[in-house]
Amino acid sequence: MTESSLVTTRSQATYNELCSVIPGGVNSPFRGYQEVGGSPVLFNKGQGASLSDLDGNTYLDYVGGWGPMILGHGHPRVAGAVKEMLDEGFLLGSSHPLELECARLVQKAFPSMAMVRFVNSGTEAVQSAVRLARACTKKDKVLRFEGSYHGHVDGLVDAFGVRKIEGTGVPESIARNTLSGPFNDVEALRNMFEHHAKELACVLVEPVAGSMGVVAADPEFLKALRELTSANRVVLIFDEVLTGFRVAFGGAQERYGIQADLTCLGKILGGGLPAGAYGGKAELMQRIAPGGPVYQAGTFSGNPLTMRASIETLNILAEENVYDELDRTAGMLEEGLVAAAKSAKIPVQVPRVGSMFSVMFTHRPPRNIRDAEFADSKRFAAFFHGMLNRGVFFPPSLHDAAFVSTAHTRDDIEKTVEAAEEVFKSL
Ligand SMILES: Cc1ncc(COP(=O)(O)O)c(C=O)c1O
Repeated sequence: MTESSLVTTRSQATYNELCSVIPGGVNSPFRGYQEVGGSPVLFNKGQGASLSDLDGNTYLDYVGGWGPMILGHGHPRVAGAVKEMLDEGFLLGSSHPLELECARLVQKAFPSMAMVRFVNSGTEAVQSAVRLARACTKKDKVLRFEGSYHGHVDGLVDAFGVRKIEGTGVPESIARNTLSGPFNDVEALRNMFEHHAKELACVLVEPVAGSMGVVAADPEFLKALRELTSANRVVLIFDEVLTGFRVAFGGAQERYGIQADLTCLGKILGGGLPAGAYGGKAELMQRIAPGGPVYQAGTFSGNPLTMRASIETLNILAEENVYDELDRTAGMLEEGLVAAAKSAKIPVQVPRVGSMFSVMFTHRPPRNIRDAEFADSKRFAAFFHGMLNRGVFFPPSLHDAAFVSTAHTRDDIEKTVEAAEEVFKSL
């Protein structure tokens, strides 16, 4: 693996100490550099499209806090709203009018979410939606797709058909209720339904997958999902944790004109603070406690501080209709990266949906995780470190999505492409 030649002495020392008290030195595994080698750079400030590290190096940021920071870091309106809220109290222990305002904004973006419950993370949203689907259908099995990521919920942590569960802490009895199918394969999907529809509570799908590179579901695949689930009393859950407010204000459901029965949100929803939500038709959602038997709760759920950050973020996204501009900026980056790779004669794909994209060292755009696994991980590691050395931070992971924010300028994109030209030539 290629090691970074940046001076990152302080990052390294702090990371080494972190490793003695926090497993792997990180509170979430994707922040580690296991896939690319070397010691993680630790940031202590983010402003707009850039990050500064403990040693004073600065970087253009395409990780965006792993998705949430669509407005860049420290957006003055969001930061101002949060600061104001701090004076009013941030955990008051009752429902708050801000929850109403935020729920209305979510409904405006996602008309399929007639009722919504706020939680604190994407994982919680998915876990709760699956429980609700099981309660509504009185069936147990979940169908998800290989290579998708839905958080660290027992039974969803991996596509068990692909990897073994020994030693993962997930009981076999739970894993047995998870079925995994290939993404974007209508025939395999029909086959699954033929054999398992009677046992299936729900199908859980990322309409644009962000952890096998960026792979959009084919329109025929989404259509087949909608038809098969409706015809078989199976709940269709869209995991829009990554795509919600990202690929359009109304997420993939707006972009592709298809409605889910239940939708899971997170990431951008919190405006940079921890948040998630799930929602759907009232007849489903009314089964949740306290009105119904499906228990789900949270001390911090819908707290006013997070709601304030969320409302401000969603208002900016709705008022300023940022999506066309994001698409243009990200398109410019995609074109620049593709051209740079071509002139260096390196096979690179830059699959992109709006402002989410990935850089894959492979000959053809991936359509599922099996394609994505052909991508050259050694080249990716060298690319990652080459870019980091030139002040550009991409996700330190071969299969994870990168993001453009509204804070990225043309100049930033040009600098990124110039850095990529040098790096591709060096590979
Ligand atoms: C599609 C998807 N679902 C769920 C999650 C889990 O969200 P969280 O990390 O907030 O628990 C993620 C996180 O990356 C995600 O990308």
